[in-house]
Amino acid sequence: MATHKVTFLPLNVTVEVDESKYPLADHGKPGSLLDIALANNIKLEHNCGGSCACTTCHVVVREGEENLSTMELDEEDRLDTAEGLTLHSRLGCQAVVRGDVVVEIPK
Ligand code: FES
Repeated sequence: MATHKVTFLPLNVTVEVDESKYPLADHGKPGSLLDIALANNIKLEHNCGGSCACTTCHVVVREGEENLSTMELDEEDRLDTAEGLTLHSRLGCQAVVRGDVVVEIPK
């Protein structure tokens, strides 16, 4: 059993997730930041329903970037259109959690 801690800023809420229980909710890739947020009542927009077709689930990774799944080309292309893009940006519905991470949900 692999459990990971995921902290969402600026709420400063940390949740613990068990990788063997993915998917936790019904949007985004199983075990994605969106999946985890929704399962824990954390508000993360997801206008396209988690299918990499919008950018409303944009998050900025503050710690543990290496503990997220590698970015695929479709995420990279979509992310390019995100408002407030940073070098540490990811799409919440595409980035799957494999270890402890801290992410910020931009305003
Ligand atoms: S919810 Fe639309 S790209 Fe993630």
